[in-house]
Order: sequence, then structure tokens, then C-alpha cells
Amino acid sequence: MVHADNAPDSSLRALRHRHLLGLSTYGSDEIRLILRTAREFRSVLDRPIRRVPTLRGVTVANLFFEPSTRTRLSFELAAKRLSADVVNFSTAGSSVSKGETLKDTVRNIEAMKVDMAVVRHASPGVPHFLTRCVDVQVVNAGDGAHEHPSQALLDLLTMTEHYDSFDGLNVTIIGDIAHSRVARSNIYGLHTLGANVTLCGPPTLVPVDIRALGVRVTHSLGDALEGCDVAMSLRIQLERQDASLVPSTREYHDRFGIKLRDLERHPDLIVMHPGPVNRGVELASDVVDHERAIILRQVTNGVAVRMAILYLLATATRAHDMSAGPTVS
Ligand code: CP
Repeated sequence: MVHADNAPDSSLRALRHRHLLGLSTYGSDEIRLILRTAREFRSVLDRPIRRVPTLRGVTVANLFFEPSTRTRLSFELAAKRLSADVVNFSTAGSSVSKGETLKDTVRNIEAMKVDMAVVRHASPGVPHFLTRCVDVQVVNAGDGAHEHPSQALLDLLTMTEHYDSFDGLNVTIIGDIAHSRVARSNIYGLHTLGANVTLCGPPTLVPVDIRALGVRVTHSLGDALEGCDVAMSLRIQLERQDASLVPSTREYHDRFGIKLRDLERHPDLIVMHPGPVNRGVELASDVVDHERAIILRQVTNGVAVRMAILYLLATATRAHDMSAGPTVS
């Protein structure tokens, strides 16, 4: 196997993109650069003083128009670990409730001289729209059911801690594919790096046209887990469903929930979940706490990946000398 770091396209030193809007347009060299950089920042997080001066003078605005725990906190922590200044915006308590438009909101925030905006919004395409309204760098922190690129990147980083190569790696994504930005970004990233992706869920939650992305589709969990290296369960997103698309959460768990017996039957299988987990629905509660469920490791890696994203985007446009790699001292 070829380790991700020794892959032939590992020589890239700077991102070609000014924004991170999604993984569909990122090449394998750019994705590997982010993963490589994240591994260096990962070592910073293990130090007694978890802060480096790398982005001193840069201001990051976290604009969250939708609830978030992991993404919002880890982007904030990532910016602070890099010594950037951070401001946090959430819809509750803002002038959006007085009728201010999205465009006016971000133009006012830009007027306060921010450099980067990390944006989460319920509507697909909002981060792309903002790149046309303001002159700040935009990071998509999840836009509707479209993409969640930083989540997929932290998922990819976590997989590299267990597998030497993406070539031929079999990843199964289980659950609410129809409403999942996490699934879409992972499909793009995994395919770009050479992995095989299987999607599994009830027909009501797996769009028929998703096969166009080159994935295998099955509606049987048993079938999906055969030969599978990584099982990624997704949250049932009740808030995005117009009608009840699963008969009951209990029946869903019976058919598509990963149980302890699945881990016993597949002794090399690792289980991932982007969170938040509905215990007893996507995963049995004892699976959530099992050592082969690496959900909290994903969360830790999320900070390192987001440090890498902020650093690489900031330095890509500031024409820093990238030859030495990130300053982690
Ligand atoms: N995985 C994820 O996006 O979690 P949050 O909604 O808590 O940010």
C-alpha cells in the first residue's frame, strides 16, 4: 500500500482555490496537502501550549445561520490556536430577526475588516453567493443538503489513521443520504482519492439519481457491510424532512442501525459518524461507546483539519513562502 503522504501528487505547496466551497472541485493534490498540513497541526494540539503565531493579524468571522456544536466550536478553536482574531455571529440575537438581509448582514461584517468568513446556512449555495457579494475568503461550513467539505476532510484524515491508502478502500455511507451534505462531500473526496463508496439506506432516503456520482447503492445493511472497511452512519435529519420518510425510528434502527453483532461479524470494521448521534437510531448505544467507533477522534481531528484549512487559504492568497511548510513552532 502507498501511504497517503507518499502518493505521487504530494509535492503541492499551496492551494489553487481562494475559497473552500466544496470538495467537488478540489483535486487529489489539494486534498492531500490539507491532510498533510492537518497532521502537522495535529501535533500542535498534543503540546502543553496549543497555540502557534501562524495567523496573527488575520480576522475570521464565524457566521452560523443554523445550529452547530462541533463545526462552530472547532473553527473557533482552530482560529484561536493559530492566533487569529475571531468573531462569532449566530442568527439568534442578531439583526436578521429585524429583517436585515443575508447580503446586507455579510456586507456589514466585511466592513468591519474581516479576512475570512466561515459560513453555515440552511440554503444550498449560500457560500457561493457570498463570494459574489463580498471580498472575503469563504469557507463552507455546511450549506443545506449540498456540501460540508471540512467535515469530509476531517473524516478523510481520520481514515488515514487506520488505513495506509485510499486506493481500493471500501467505505459505506449509511442512512439519510437524501438530506446529507456530509455524504455528498465524502463521495467527492473519497472518489478523488481512489476509494470505493457504497450508499445504503431506505429507498425514501437514497435519491435514485445518486448513482450518477459513481457510487454503489444497496438497501440491505448486511450487503453494505460485506467487505466494508469503514462504515459511516449519518444522522436521520428529521428537521429537513417534509414528510415522514421512515416509518419509525425503531424500525429504522432494526433495518439500518449498526449493532454490536455487526462489529462482531466484521472484526476489522471501523465505525464513523459526523454527529450529533441519535443513540439507538443510527447506532446502538453500545456501538457509540465501542473502541472501534472513532467518533470522538473525528472531533479532535476536526480542529486540526480546520487549522489546516484556515492556514492554507490565508497563505494561498497572501503569497507567503510555502516552501518551508506551516510554522508550527
Ligand atoms: N458534524 C457536524 O456538522 O456537527 P455540528 O452540526 O454540531 O457542527
